[in-house]
Amino acid sequence: MNTFAEKELASLKQRGQLRDLYVLPETGGQITVDGRTVINFSSNDYLDLARDRRLKDAAIRTVEELGCGATAARLMTGHLKLHEQLESDLAQMMGTEATLVFGSGFLTNLGVLTALAKAGDEVYADKLNHASLIDGTRLSKAHSMRYLHKDLNHLESLLKKSKTKGKRIIVSDSVFSMDGDIAPLAGLSELAQRYDALLVIDEAHAIGVMGENGGGACRIKGREIKPDVVIGTLSKSLGGYGGYAACSASIRKFLINNARSFIYSTGLPPVCVGSGREAVFVLKSNPNLGKTLLDRAERFRDLLAGAGLNVPEFESQIIPILVGGNDEAVHFSQLLWDRGLLIKAIRPPTVPVGTSRVRLSITLALSDEVLSKSADMIAQTAKKAGIIS
Ligand SMILES: Cc1ncc(COP(=O)(O)O)c(C=O)c1O
Repeated sequence: MNTFAEKELASLKQRGQLRDLYVLPETGGQITVDGRTVINFSSNDYLDLARDRRLKDAAIRTVEELGCGATAARLMTGHLKLHEQLESDLAQMMGTEATLVFGSGFLTNLGVLTALAKAGDEVYADKLNHASLIDGTRLSKAHSMRYLHKDLNHLESLLKKSKTKGKRIIVSDSVFSMDGDIAPLAGLSELAQRYDALLVIDEAHAIGVMGENGGGACRIKGREIKPDVVIGTLSKSLGGYGGYAACSASIRKFLINNARSFIYSTGLPPVCVGSGREAVFVLKSNPNLGKTLLDRAERFRDLLAGAGLNVPEFESQIIPILVGGNDEAVHFSQLLWDRGLLIKAIRPPTVPVGTSRVRLSITLALSDEVLSKSADMIAQTAKKAGIIS
């Protein structure tokens, strides 16, 4: 009956791409699993806010006041005053006129791209964009072109050949989720202006970490750019769940009327709105959280590089160690786990074939001392796995 599934699973296994769920008893930087402490390098809770007392209290208060669900789509009866308050807090953080909150970052990307990009339009996307940006473009009826990773010359060569009478839309992550490098934001902005294109930047991994008020890489002092739409998420640095588009008031109104993942989905539950508002408040009151994290991540990256591991130049709190083969990456991750380090292997289709890796995300839950000990253990394990000599 299910032979199609079994066949596909066998094929994935044979290619070293079979994935499985692993149950953890809790979240956090250091987790107790079967009586031993495991250090978690695979969480996107960069600012260690998911378990923060202030966020928990705000979430509990909101549930007590408003219940568990928004009960309907925002355009029906699921639009609460609290949603508007969160959107206004987020707009202040992002330095935009408005924001619109969606059910998740993934849903935001689907909604924004299908609303903006129509038949006859052209989307120019970085080759390493996140899956939700790729899927948003695929779902739209626009013609999609992918330029080489961060390659402004390639992007411009494609823009020069543009034939559309419709819209051109350039789409990129700011901090790339699996490589931790940063898009050439100023160059993208300049090309968008020169070729009359809209610019959409996904800041999922930069929110809370970079830029003024933690508003993302587009808000880094002296390097500010103003994309037409910035995508953010409440699900990573902000410790909760949900997504948003930061934009002008008119684009917000346009999205309310055109973004299907907004129109046809229940409003974000009050609990997420409550914790999201508190997270924005915590960021505003503690403007150095992002810098503390990045400084720590840079010191850690230097320890790994010093030990001979194949890590890229420092750019963000996401640090991949390139391994190459699928089985080798999984084996390395397993050996690290055996030593009490939770560092997930990342394989195709999430990353290009031949670039399997383990991906480390540094969070404020990990002290310099923990990071330094971990760097030693990672280097020893890499030697054992034959990844370094
Ligand atoms: C770049 C990027 N955009 C969007 C998302 C989706 O965000 P969410 O987890 O809120 O759905 C992710 C999550 O992995 C991401 O890495």
